[in-house]
Formats: sequence, C-alpha cells, structure tokens
Amino acid sequence: MPSNGKAAFVWASASAVSISVLSLLILAPVQQTQGYSNGAPTVSCGDMIPQHGVDAQFGPSPFLIHLMDGEIVLMDNSVHLELRSSDPQIAFEGYFIMAFDKNDHSANARPIGRFKQSANDVKVMDCPGGMQNAVTHSTNVKKSSVTLEWFPPENYSGQVVFRTTFVKGKSTFWVKQESKSVSFVMETTSSKGSPKAPMTGQKGSGSSSSSTVWAGLIAASLLAFLLVR
Ligand SMILES: *[C@@H]1O[C@H](CO)[C@@H](O)[C@H](O)[C@H]1NC(C)=O
Repeated sequence: MPSNGKAAFVWASASAVSISVLSLLILAPVQQTQGYSNGAPTVSCGDMIPQHGVDAQFGPSPFLIHLMDGEIVLMDNSVHLELRSSDPQIAFEGYFIMAFDKNDHSANARPIGRFKQSANDVKVMDCPGGMQNAVTHSTNVKKSSVTLEWFPPENYSGQVVFRTTFVKGKSTFWVKQESKSVSFVMETTSSKGSPKAPMTGQKGSGSSSSSTVWAGLIAASLLAFLLVR
C-alpha cells in the first residue's frame, strides 16, 4: 500500500509536469499566431506580411481587387476600388493595401497617393514615404467586400498597381496580391477613339450594302439569263 501510494504520487507529479510542458507548447504558438483585430501595425508597411508567426499562402487567393473605374483614368481623378471575395462562402477578416508605381522596381518601393477615410471597416494609415498612403481593416469582422477611394499624386501620369494582403484567418493569408494596372492619362483613349468608331461602323455598313447590291445584280442577271434561255 505505501509503495503504491508513493508510485501514485510520483505518477501524479510527473503528469502535472508533462501537462504544464504540453500546455506551454500548445499555448506558445497560439499566442504567436494572434492577429491584429484592429488593423495591421505599421511594421507591416515594409513587407506587407502580417506579424502572425505563420507562413503566407502560396496558392491562388479567393480574394481580388476590382477596379471600379476601369484601367484608364483621367489625370488627377480618384480611383474607386473594391476588395472582394470571389466566393460568397469565403470571407476575409483583415486586409492591408497600398498603391505603387508599376515601374518602380526598387527594393524598397514607397507607396504613392492617398486613401480617403470612409465608413466601412477602413482605417487609413501613414506608411514611410507619405501620409494616408495605406489602408487596413478597423475590425476583424468577417467581410466579403470593402470599397475604397484612392487619389493619385498631383499631375501623376503613369501606371499604378494596388497590392493587397488579405487575411482570411489568423493563420491563413495571402501577401501582396496585385491588381491590374491603372493608367493615368491626360485624355481618355475612348474619347480620342470615339470619332473613329462610327467611321468604321459606316464603312462596315457601306460594304455590306454594296455587297447586297452586287448580290441583287447577280441574281437579276441570272434570272434574266434563265428567262432568255
Ligand atoms: C501640376 O500641373 C500644373 C499645370 O501644369 C502646375 O501648375 C502645377 O504646379 C503642377 N503641380 C505639381 C505638383 O507638379
């Protein structure tokens, strides 16, 4: 009996130790992978990687950046963007977006332009290089769409790309997903090109009507030939 009791005591203390070691092992990564419920910290400005302690996803992202004003915008006009999910079943909790000059390939490319503060889950941030040049989530509520407005630098005429980090959950995120590029022009090519469009249309209808005339003539002469025969 006494030896049994001692064995039980040793076993109990051994399991107590292993339980605390185990809980340390389990809790430590959990604490590391905690996300930021009220937006990305400014340390994310450089690499756009959430400080979650886990690796980014490398597969295709279920989230995308929709350019609501198209890919050609007049100089000094703003750009409306929608961050959204391609699958209504999948929502994102966090995001972090900045705009870059497409042709700036320097290692520490700085974000350009500025974002407007708006109501829907938007927190405008200042990253090195400017003011109000980044936006992150203000809450980690699950969302499938966030709309944003961005203003280019004054007199900017170049190509801009938006890079977004989407966070689906603390351990699942996609880093620097790139939008299509937006070109800033003095005059839209559609307004330049519009006089051409009706011209080509007229040409097309002109040739089709002349071919109708020719078809009629051929049919008439064929008929005349048959009748004469
Ligand atoms: C933008 O262009 C206008 C007109 O050419 C000029 O007056 C103004 O100084 C320019 N602004 C900047 C920031 O270059």
